[in-house]
Amino acid sequence: MATAVNKPLPIVVLISGRGSNLQSIIDAVAAGELPVEIRAVISNRPDARGLQRAAQAGIATQVIDHNSYPDRAAFDAALQTTIDDYRPRLVVLAGFMRILTPAFVSHYRGQMINIHPSLLPEFPGLNTHQRVLDACRKETGATVHFVTEETDGGPAILQTHVPVLPGDDADSLAARVLEQEHRMYPVVIRWYAEGRVQLDPEGRIRFDNAPLERPRLLDSEAGAPC
Ligand code: GAR
Repeated sequence: MATAVNKPLPIVVLISGRGSNLQSIIDAVAAGELPVEIRAVISNRPDARGLQRAAQAGIATQVIDHNSYPDRAAFDAALQTTIDDYRPRLVVLAGFMRILTPAFVSHYRGQMINIHPSLLPEFPGLNTHQRVLDACRKETGATVHFVTEETDGGPAILQTHVPVLPGDDADSLAARVLEQEHRMYPVVIRWYAEGRVQLDPEGRIRFDNAPLERPRLLDSEAGAPC
């Protein structure tokens, strides 16, 4: 999987919906801040708004509709074939709302990342923001992590902390967290493209050639990753 130095990292982005995180990646590439080539955007839903964002940016799009397959294994096999046709070195899940089979996850081990709107391992899964509010938390956040068989559960690379404010509802909280997601994902993808972050054979993260004991933090005030 070695690539010549200075060549942009080929990636494929998987989405299911709005695609605002996809847009943040597209914008970072367009701004010259992210040395990647988005080879394709693949959605499991034909109506995903993110497909239009990709098309507007001149990126190839594909729909692999999960409703057209008899089971998860068949869907994941079709998805894998489609992804691999583009020969990516990183698969980026950006609001891709499907549980993945172990075979699929192991095929992309160390080469697939996800973003989730909570401070994992807390609040994996759906309806994250409402559950944070119901638990009366004063703080939440977002996490970018390597994908493992556990849904929203792989080793965390980068987190951002976001306050829960009085009067917040799930929408206002989601919007505040999403702003941070849009800053975080390009940062981690750049680290990966630059070879600064990897998953080692034991399933631990290495960052700048040293074990990463805890996720790095993106300082939401200062605007720079520490
Ligand atoms: C984002 O908040 C992302 O973190 C979340 O879905 C949203 C997608 O928004 N992903 C998950 O909850 C994964 N478990 P987007 O389509 O506008 O990027």
